[in-house]
Amino acid sequence: MKQTLIRKMTLADRLDVADLIYSSTNHWYQTHGRQAIFSGGPSVTEAFFDVYEALDAGCGIVAVNATDSRLIGSCFYHPRETHVSLGIMNSHPNYAGAGVARALLNWIIDFARNEGKPLRLVSSAMNLDSFSLYTRAGFVPRYAYQDMLLPVPKDGLDITVAGLDRVRPAAMADVPAMAELEKRIWGISRQKDYRYFIDNQDGLWHMSVYQGDSGPIEGFCASCGHAGCNMVGPLVAATPAQAEALLATELDRHRGRTPVFLVPVDCSPLVRTAYSWGARNCETHFSQVLGAWQPPSGVAMPTFLPETS
Ligand SMILES: CC(C)(COP(=O)(O)OP(=O)(O)OC[C@H]1O[C@@H](n2cnc3c(N)ncnc32)[C@H](O)[C@@H]1OP(=O)(O)O)[C@@H](O)C(=O)NCCC(=O)NCCS
Repeated sequence: MKQTLIRKMTLADRLDVADLIYSSTNHWYQTHGRQAIFSGGPSVTEAFFDVYEALDAGCGIVAVNATDSRLIGSCFYHPRETHVSLGIMNSHPNYAGAGVARALLNWIIDFARNEGKPLRLVSSAMNLDSFSLYTRAGFVPRYAYQDMLLPVPKDGLDITVAGLDRVRPAAMADVPAMAELEKRIWGISRQKDYRYFIDNQDGLWHMSVYQGDSGPIEGFCASCGHAGCNMVGPLVAATPAQAEALLATELDRHRGRTPVFLVPVDCSPLVRTAYSWGARNCETHFSQVLGAWQPPSGVAMPTFLPETS
C-alpha cells in the first residue's frame, strides 16, 4: 500500500498503540459475532507496549498513513537465540484490507531473514483475516491448540493431581536447564523470557518448575495475572502428567479469576483433564511458522503475552 509508511515504534506511541490494540481487536471480534477480547478501557492494553518494551526495547514497529501521519497499524517482534517471534499484530479498522498488516509483516519477515532465523507466532484459527495474512506470506500452520477458560474458585480448585509435590517456584539458576529442556522438546530456546518471568519486576508473573527424579527439571510453566492477559503458559513438560501438575499449580495462583490456557489438541490426557476440572473452549489457535520447525516431543503450550509458540 503506497500511502503506508513503516517506522520504529517510540515511547511517544505508547498510548496510541494501546488504543489501537484495544479498539481494533475488539472491533474485529465484535463485528464477527464474538465478544470483545479486552474490557476495562484501553489502559489494559498498555501492558503489551510495557512488557514488550521491557523485554525487547525498540522491537516494535508502527504503520503510519503517509499523508497525515495517523497511526494505522502496530506490531512487535522478539529476537531469540533460536528464532524470532511476532507479537500482537493490529491494523486500524478504517484501513482493513488495505495492506497495512501485510506491510508490517513484510518488515518483520525481512528482519527474521536477515537474522537467518525462523519466524513464529500464534494465530487464531477463527480469525481468517489473520490466518490468511500469515499463510499467504508463506507461514505454515504447524500445530493446533484448544484455548480453554477455567474459572478458579476463590478457595481453589477441588481437584486431585499427582506430582504436585514435585512442583516448586522457578529460580534464576533453573534458566539454563529450562532452555535445554525447551530446545529438546520444542526446538526453541528463549532464556530472556524465562528470566523476565522469574525476575517479575512488574508483579504480574509467576513461574514453576517440575523437579525430576535425578536432579534436572522436567517441566516449567509461567502465568500472567494482568487484566489484559490472564493466562497460564508458556508450559513445557516431558509428559502430560507433569504438565497437569504444573498447570494445576499455576491455575491455583489465579483464585477468583478465569485464566485461559492453550492445550495442544493432540494431548488427549491433558484435554480430558482440563474438561474434568471444568474448563470450556473459547477459541482455537495455530502455531504458525515461516521456516524450520520440529514437532514437539513432549507438551508445549504457548502464550500471547509475551508471544511464544
Ligand atoms: C488481522 C488484521 C491484522 C488484518 O489486517 P489488514 O491490514 O486488514 O490485513 P491486510 O490488508 O494487510 O491483508 C492481509 C492479507 O490477507 C488476505 N486475506 C484476508 N482474508 C482472506 C481470505 N479469506 N482468504 C485469503 N486471503 C485473505 C488479504 O488478501 C491480504 O493478503 P495479500 O497482502 O497477499 O493480498 C486486522 O483485521 C486486525 O487488526 N484484526 C484485529 C486484531 C487481530 O486479530 N490481530 C491478529 C492477531 S495475531
